[in-house]
Amino acid sequence: MPRPKIALIGAGQIGGTLAHLAALKELGDVVLFDIAEGTPQGKALDIAEAGPAEGFDARLKGTNDYADISGADVCIVTAGVPRKPGMSRDDLLGINLKVMKAVGEGIRVNAPDAFVICITNPLDAMVWALREYSGLPHNMVCGMAGVLDSARFRHFLSVEFDVSMKDVTAFVLGGHGDTMVPLVRYSTVAGIPLPDLIEMGWTTQEKLDAIVQRTRDGGAEIVGLLGNGSAFYAPATSAIEMAEAFLKDQKRLLPCAAHVDGAFGLKGMYVGVPTIIGAGGIERVVDIRMAKNEQAMFDKSVEAVKGLVEACRKIDGSLT
Ligand code: APR
Repeated sequence: MPRPKIALIGAGQIGGTLAHLAALKELGDVVLFDIAEGTPQGKALDIAEAGPAEGFDARLKGTNDYADISGADVCIVTAGVPRKPGMSRDDLLGINLKVMKAVGEGIRVNAPDAFVICITNPLDAMVWALREYSGLPHNMVCGMAGVLDSARFRHFLSVEFDVSMKDVTAFVLGGHGDTMVPLVRYSTVAGIPLPDLIEMGWTTQEKLDAIVQRTRDGGAEIVGLLGNGSAFYAPATSAIEMAEAFLKDQKRLLPCAAHVDGAFGLKGMYVGVPTIIGAGGIERVVDIRMAKNEQAMFDKSVEAVKGLVEACRKIDGSLT
């Protein structure tokens, strides 16, 4: 059986890290596509030359030609510009929408059967636009945000409790922005919910509130520290987890920006929700019950995403 083909659209900081991780994990052969000449070719060759020392079997190719992504099983999209200090993800909307148009057409023509994971920000609006431009089925196009936001939450909690990150589960839903919703009630240490851990004296409400806020600001914290770009190791690792769930039909329950039509009382929009990812792409949206305050936060986040989608429609009248 031939190896799966993984196309990475955008060969910048996240794209290069995705290629390295995909090769290390032997998920398949990798094609790095970018409009910048030399960058995808250079990164592909550099990673391929790590193969003998690491011992992985994967072919890597860098290209500026969409024809090379032909027949890809997975496309991970990072094409576009990242934010600079002081910018919000929403400030990227105009420029990255144009990029989604070009990428969507490239995928429609060359890789219409792929499972597409979008990382480009502002995430929820960009994945919606990418789906519109590509015309692929909704269940085959999703966005990576919830896995990353949850991983940030899990990391901060594991440090607070001094326990293994493996034993911390967490859920962050809603749009990938300031209004994201870390769900404290559904977050646990080995099954013990966070509210119980407060009662057990492991932490305080104040400390937990601060961790929730740090999670919401997780991307901005890194943008501020780096000074010239945004996070790339954790975003790439999160998208690889989703790609692996698809390629290996793992049926993982992962939060991601998926098309929600019916669940959560929503009518046909992309936003961060719990999903099952397997060989059928987004196989199911898991319609969990939320408490009143959680629902209110989620509703606010949904409104923020709707506002961004409206802004996209205003920029490009062909988007209906
Ligand atoms: N087609 C293909 N590639 C493009 C296009 C395009 N139309 N426009 C820009 N690119 C490429 C750039 O040449 C660059 O190599 O996208 C790459 C983006 O890489 P970086 O600038 O390093 O950005 P990165 O940190 O990888 O983040 C990419 O993900 O998390 C989000 O907010 C982030 O939107 C940003 C995206």
